[in-house]
Amino acid sequence: MKFFIDTANLDDIREAQEMGILDGVTTNPSLMAKEGISGKDRVMQHYKQICDIVGNDVSAEVISVKYDEMIREGEELAEIDDNIVVKIPMTADGVKAIKYFSEKGIRTNCTLIFSAGQALVAAKAGASFVSPFVGRLDDISTDGMELVEQIVTIFTNYGIETEVLAASVRHPMHIIQCAEIGADVMTAPLSVIKMLLHHPLTDSGLAKFLADHEKASLAVKK
Ligand code: G3P
Repeated sequence: MKFFIDTANLDDIREAQEMGILDGVTTNPSLMAKEGISGKDRVMQHYKQICDIVGNDVSAEVISVKYDEMIREGEELAEIDDNIVVKIPMTADGVKAIKYFSEKGIRTNCTLIFSAGQALVAAKAGASFVSPFVGRLDDISTDGMELVEQIVTIFTNYGIETEVLAASVRHPMHIIQCAEIGADVMTAPLSVIKMLLHHPLTDSGLAKFLADHEKASLAVKK
């Protein structure tokens, strides 16, 4: 399963890259705003900086909602770098835009997916990725992971090549469940990915190894 991080924060992206766990980055307008990035030039420049660090897939979301504007904006985003994946919302105009980009060889990530039907339509239109939002479904007492499983099953049934990118991943068990189900990609904040590192037996085991080493060194010195 590929690990993407869901952020526009350059320090987090660099840290994930240095850890050797980074397969890509997803952003959205809320995440860009959180970093204080606004204005076309600044936004474009920020995406370029992200691409230079990652050297792999970077989802950049359009903020237009009308077909013609989505096309113009998506083409400009795609020109920033070969690794840009144009992120398009699941709307009727969005689906048409996905078809357009797919025919032009520009990769897309269809975002705000909350049902298997939406995922299937996006895939048929030629989306490279579909992004079911796990945590936001959990927030309304609906099992987000069940949706990921449903989409993976449908895509497997028909050999659909669109990758299932589980988004709105909020805790380490979401990541493990995504891997068990066979999601192609999961995207989460770096803080959530880092939670995978910890286990109390690792901490106590390491403390004991170091204490034993210290004891042995003192014995040699005596
Ligand atoms: O990738 C989508 C993600 O940014 C949404 O996450 O936690 O705001 O639901 P969240």
